[in-house]
Amino acid sequence: MSNAVPTDYASARERVDALRRRLQHHAQQYHVLDAPEIPDAEYDRLYDELQALEQAHPEWVTADSPTQRVIGAVLDGLKPVRHAVAMLSIQAERDTSEASARRFDARVRKALAAAAASTPTAVSESTSASQSTSAAAAAAAAAPELASASASASPSAADAPLLAYSAELKFDGLAINLRYQHGRLVQAATRGDGETGEDVTHTISTIGDIPQRLRGAAASAAAVIEVRGEVFMRRDHFEQLNEQQRSKGGKTFVNPRNAAAGVVRQLDARIAAERPLSFFAYGLGDVQGWDPPPTHSGLLTALAAMGVPVNDERAVVLGADGLVAYHARIAARRDALPFDIDGVVYKLDSRALQLQLGFKSREPRWALAHKYPAQEQMTALNGIDIQLGRTGKLTPVAKLHPVFVGGTTVSNATLHNVFELRRKGVRVGDTVIVRRAGDVIPEVVGRVPGERPAYVPNFRMPAQCPVCGSAVLREKGGIDHRCTGGLFCATQRKQALLHFAGRRAMDIEGLGDKLVDQLVDSGLIRTLPELYTLGVAKLSALARMADKSAANLLTGLERSKQTTLGRFLYALGIRHVGETTAKDLARHFGSIDRLMDASADRLLAVRDVGPVVAQSIRAFFDQPHNREVMEQLRAAGITWPESDGSADKTDAAPRPLFGKIFVLTGTLPLLTRDEAKDLIEAAGGKVAGSVSKRTSYVVAGEEAGSKLDKARELGLPVLDEDGLRALLDAG
Ligand code: IVH
Repeated sequence: MSNAVPTDYASARERVDALRRRLQHHAQQYHVLDAPEIPDAEYDRLYDELQALEQAHPEWVTADSPTQRVIGAVLDGLKPVRHAVAMLSIQAERDTSEASARRFDARVRKALAAAAASTPTAVSESTSASQSTSAAAAAAAAAPELASASASASPSAADAPLLAYSAELKFDGLAINLRYQHGRLVQAATRGDGETGEDVTHTISTIGDIPQRLRGAAASAAAVIEVRGEVFMRRDHFEQLNEQQRSKGGKTFVNPRNAAAGVVRQLDARIAAERPLSFFAYGLGDVQGWDPPPTHSGLLTALAAMGVPVNDERAVVLGADGLVAYHARIAARRDALPFDIDGVVYKLDSRALQLQLGFKSREPRWALAHKYPAQEQMTALNGIDIQLGRTGKLTPVAKLHPVFVGGTTVSNATLHNVFELRRKGVRVGDTVIVRRAGDVIPEVVGRVPGERPAYVPNFRMPAQCPVCGSAVLREKGGIDHRCTGGLFCATQRKQALLHFAGRRAMDIEGLGDKLVDQLVDSGLIRTLPELYTLGVAKLSALARMADKSAANLLTGLERSKQTTLGRFLYALGIRHVGETTAKDLARHFGSIDRLMDASADRLLAVRDVGPVVAQSIRAFFDQPHNREVMEQLRAAGITWPESDGSADKTDAAPRPLFGKIFVLTGTLPLLTRDEAKDLIEAAGGKVAGSVSKRTSYVVAGEEAGSKLDKARELGLPVLDEDGLRALLDAG
């Protein structure tokens, strides 16, 4: 990834041209098309290289070099907006060490001293003071309360007085200017090239956080208040959006910032309304008829009082040590924040001092963006492995050349599924972009266009599970590949055992999380039937297993043997066979043998069984080891009352509640919730977890909560226990 540094004049000149072309291309991809091809960190490296070459050869600098202008253009279809006050950027410090915070503080002091020396009356009367104390005097003039804090923090006269800074998060989204006239939002615009942005009032108005009206008399009185800040997408909203896109095979977004930029610059506000964005203010643009507070921190507090979202992690800190401590404190919190930040921002708190310092090449001298390690990097994709999850899902995992990203070294990253992998066009040997942010697992978000070996075969999912060798299956229309091994598969064993033992399945008392972990980890249980071969001797071999719990488990196991076919089928954990389907199957076929041999067509004849469920049942019983498990369980003594399996007869049983959906809430006087559920289902009804327009009845007991309120709101019939019984008896 590193480029050889050109040594001779001619090749340096060529390199400058090549860098400009590449930077221009990538700036267009990023700013205009919202489709970056390389990580920001790589863009920054190219930019730094160009800047270094231009510094060595100032005669080559041109006005249109990417180092000389803010890039950004207006998208077709959006109206250009000329900013009343230019939207500038801040100097970014990519050195993530604390030294850069100290250098910034030193620079600011020096510049303040120089400003004070050249225009002493503009600062204060204390012209005889030393350079550093005149900076402090200026701070005192502008913000007396903070200067006195600094004085007490540094009592010795020999010590340099400390400057007060507003320290903030550097949100990773896009800059927006909100124009309020007499307190009312009249226009929202992107930054664009700093002079001209795009009118995005239609999409910004869908952001609930942004007030349409500012609170307070001062805001209403002001002819103009322009609030500037960052629009971004929270990480959880970003994950949800990508999950949604993935499940419908749509295009996913590279990162939250890219998603936010895409949403803001949408022409269609309805799409924007479905994709939640957030906003934090960090400054002002044009202001007419309002006198803002004299400090930046005071301004942020005033904006918050007007109802504008301002982030709470902001702080006023003193001196270089204060900056360093803030940088470290936020670094430790970075992963826990609900949104991406790419650094922190320091601003001299006093506005009077800011004015003295002014700007240098369109960047304020009084502010610094101090970055954190990038959350996206590029690296080589060395291979693709398959990882099996506890639910049987197979995930392609990228084996990467180790790369430092988001603060740790990453050598594995998820590729989600085969379809996404294909859409991104990723192949072994490519250079890819890896993202690691917060507690989200590292992922490959795309490939960097470029050379690739002449022939690399397309990646294929294996037909057999890499752990247990069972068939791998993808549902029709689905995107995930799954192992059909279930309990037979070591990786899925714990989950399968817990499900098997569950209250509504085999109801094995005494077999919970911890014990399942112990049984599987110690190697005592590899297959379901082995559960029933446990004896006191085997159990007592487990550490910390008291005699009483061993006895309890053995009783629980013994009791569980008398069950029903419905419970047993549900306990097997066949994908898509939930409790109700299991009961329907039991009622329809009456015996496990008839069910195991039933063709897909016969399965489709069962109520509520569609092609996906039928395929899943067939796939399960087609695995020879699953049939073996069935035999062994029966041999262990599991029994249920068999019926003659006459589907016609059983299905003709009265089902007075067929097609009705119930929601249970609160405590009923006599029936437990499970009993009520069983009765409703036996009568053909369904029980749902939440109230909606589709709910037929809400059955409410004592201390019913919000579900009852919702039912009343929707005007749904509400029953008590007697009402439910009356309905059941009516059949
Ligand atoms: S202040 C004149 N404060 O980072 C100073 N910017 O170049 C104006 N950003 O485009 C910017 N968080 O979109 C400021 N707390 C913060 C910020 C922030 C994010 C963005 C902003 C700007 C870029 C800095």
